[in-house]
Amino acid sequence: MDTYLVTGGAGFIGSDFIRYLFERYGDDIKVINFDKLTYAGNLENLKSVETRENYRFIKADICDREAVYGVFESEDIDFVVNFAAESHVDRSIMDPEAFVRTNILGTQVLLDAARNCWITKAGTKEGRRFIQVSTDEVYGTLGSEGFFTEETPPDPRSPYSASKASADMLVKAYYHTYGLPVNITRCSNNYGPCQFPEKLIPLMINNALCHRGLPVYGDGRQVRDWLYVRDHSRAIDLVACKAKPGETYNIGGHNEKKNIEMVRTIIKTLRTMTKDDTISEELIKHVTDRPGHDRRYAIDPGKITGELGWLPETSFEEGIEVTVSWYMDNRNWLENVTSGEYRDYYRRMYGGQTP
Ligand code: NAD
Ligand code: TYD
Repeated sequence: MDTYLVTGGAGFIGSDFIRYLFERYGDDIKVINFDKLTYAGNLENLKSVETRENYRFIKADICDREAVYGVFESEDIDFVVNFAAESHVDRSIMDPEAFVRTNILGTQVLLDAARNCWITKAGTKEGRRFIQVSTDEVYGTLGSEGFFTEETPPDPRSPYSASKASADMLVKAYYHTYGLPVNITRCSNNYGPCQFPEKLIPLMINNALCHRGLPVYGDGRQVRDWLYVRDHSRAIDLVACKAKPGETYNIGGHNEKKNIEMVRTIIKTLRTMTKDDTISEELIKHVTDRPGHDRRYAIDPGKITGELGWLPETSFEEGIEVTVSWYMDNRNWLENVTSGEYRDYYRRMYGGQTP
């Protein structure tokens, strides 16, 4: 039975990955969810799996060496899948230190623990893998043409992407220096259920449902390449099971959208589903642009498709409908996560510029 140590498993993508693992492998695996439960971590996301005997939750910080080493001592870990991170660019602009701590130092603690446990005098234990869940943002920004490939040199431009790029460098270093069996995945923007409503899509859905303004940064013509979260989870699983150690894979489904186009699609979908005509483009408010805002991201997924046979399975039309209806059906989830800390964040972020 394979044992997965999933860090950040209470967040948006980590919780989808855990649900996916249980749907796919059932009782044939064990999952340990290691999560600090920051503002972004929410155990509600794991209600459907929490009573399983082959699931264990540990509330701890990946920077806490004792806690991390403790898990490696008490469990025979086959896979580490490191989702744990501070993940929001705007927060990284306000408070870079938390990003350096969790995303860089936390990753190094995990790498050390895996190395201590997996690499012995007798050699490297069989079948182990450390998957670093990284992002296309490490590549920086594109003009109107071209795509990020695995050969594109890292050129991060926000404290968030700089911290993720730094972690990637450490992961590569542990592969080359110690022979730790690692892979890095770099995915484009994800969307789907359970995403914290500080990110574009759930923020717009939540604001529209509350009849608040929809804050579009600058001209809204920046481009992101959107992938439904389950397609990302499937890709990570494939990499963990099939990839050669040391390889990096870009993940994306050629689904580029300008932010303003995305906001209009959300408005249209919500208006049709709610039959509420007050959800209209009049809610759109152009606000001050994000400093250093990357203009365009776009992924060339040729390597993961060619080598591992991965292709996205969810069309944008289907994915956005499922996503919008999930938030409509889960207003309690939205209310819970937007009470408390979120109010201060929102005021700091958009204060004065949106109703
Ligand atoms: P998220 O913010 O929703 O979740 C992050 C999770 O990590 C939370 O559960 C949080 O409690 C936990 N966490 C934070 N600091 C921790 C610490 N010090 N110790 C233990 N747990 C900690 O993030 P997400 O959107 O699910 O992203 C997951 C990963 O995927 C991140 O590494 C991110 O860089 C990467 N990624 C995200 C996207 C995207 O579009 N969201 C795209 C590509 C890559
Ligand atoms: P975001 O979801 O924060 O992801 P990332 O910055 O990691 O790509 O933002 C996606 C895009 O949407 C990005 O170009 C910034 C823009 N954006 C807005 O225009 N308004 C908002 O309120 C937010 C949160 C993002």
